[in-house]
Amino acid sequence: MRVVDLIRQKRDGIELSPEDLRALVEGYTNGEVPDYQMSAFLMSCFFRLMTPKELAAWTEAMLHSGHVLDLSDIPGAKVDKHSTGGVGDKVSLILAPLAVAAGLKVPMISGRGLGHTGGTLDKLESIPGFDVNLPVDRFIEMVRTLGCGLIGQTGEVAPADKKIYALRDVTSTVECIPLIASSIMSKKLAEGIDALVLDVKVGSGAFMKDLGRARELARTMIDIGAQMDRPVRALITDMDQPLGLAIGNSLEVWESIETLRGNGPEDLTELTIELVLEMLDVAGQVGNRVETKRHLRELLEDGSALRVFQNIIKAQGGDPGVCDDRDKLPTARHTEAFVAWSDGLIVRMNAEEVGIAAMELGAGRRTKEDVIDHAVGLMFEKKRGELVTEGDTILIIHYNDATHLESCKARLRAAIEIGDGPAYEQPLILDRLA
Ligand code: URA
Repeated sequence: MRVVDLIRQKRDGIELSPEDLRALVEGYTNGEVPDYQMSAFLMSCFFRLMTPKELAAWTEAMLHSGHVLDLSDIPGAKVDKHSTGGVGDKVSLILAPLAVAAGLKVPMISGRGLGHTGGTLDKLESIPGFDVNLPVDRFIEMVRTLGCGLIGQTGEVAPADKKIYALRDVTSTVECIPLIASSIMSKKLAEGIDALVLDVKVGSGAFMKDLGRARELARTMIDIGAQMDRPVRALITDMDQPLGLAIGNSLEVWESIETLRGNGPEDLTELTIELVLEMLDVAGQVGNRVETKRHLRELLEDGSALRVFQNIIKAQGGDPGVCDDRDKLPTARHTEAFVAWSDGLIVRMNAEEVGIAAMELGAGRRTKEDVIDHAVGLMFEKKRGELVTEGDTILIIHYNDATHLESCKARLRAAIEIGDGPAYEQPLILDRLA
């Protein structure tokens, strides 16, 4: 294989063979193909996209670039969920224990937050002692005994994606549907799952800003799954305002615990239940959808899902006492109410700007190297569609360092629109693809 020939073929729109794509991924992973050639190849993909055959071969090569977990001797359906990321999206923390309480196995390998979106690992690490870096054999043992483990991507799983994603990040080739779909699917399928549910977010706080692109991404991932005999379902969901009321790591953990107790905000509770319903359905375990949804709500209200979460926390070295005592989670030193500046209706919220406002306080990372502050964030009291009078609290800012407080407030002021209405309305679940 001459890499320059493969770049030329891709540049000119000629379909590449599975063997060539495999060799390219292998060569790049082991350092034989240099960054400058892979960069040119990725940019060609950005403009020329990939055929379904190319995409399947490329994804398979990334999937097999490292360790593919074998969970076949663990009884039960192994199903995971992946979200394309959003603001206030703490669904995984509730969904994994709930799905286990409902009878599924959930081997969940998650990521960290970057920019305006949060990451599951950062949220979990606000629980004192919680270790997200378990070795793979411990993780597998947890899936076997507790039904679930919650860890971060290790160097052993899909290393090709890790390397290629880092290169895409600095070569402006992230926003390319085949590259996004193959990146997500290679990591998820390497977990050894039987099936996958996707939460593809659309709106101001999402990666995909319009419904058409979100559907295309979902369809591309469903097709990859089908080629590999792994059923995939997708919900397209609203990310035009934050999910739930909390943004920021320990605030979101507490909101998750409350939701696991049956006391969560309705949008968060509903979305989590709908996603677990899809997980059960894709595993062939749903007779009646209405009945199943009622049962899932019961598993929250009777404490079953919360007990699973406590067991996971304990097994991963964390303090399960956080579930009963909020003070065991990191708490910010200061709070300040952010109030309505006029009477009216909250017409819309720019979720991305709200996420950046939280990041500025220290809740998120501007660059991968930034250290986050688990205690800080925003706690909403009013959301889209609610009436306010001047001086009403819209949200509480939790902060430790006042350096960026003013710019955070200025950003919130610009992100939240108060007017005469009507409010911009959008259903929580916009579409379901199978
Ligand atoms: N998330 C991923 O895991 N990969 C992408 O390419 C984009 C988002």
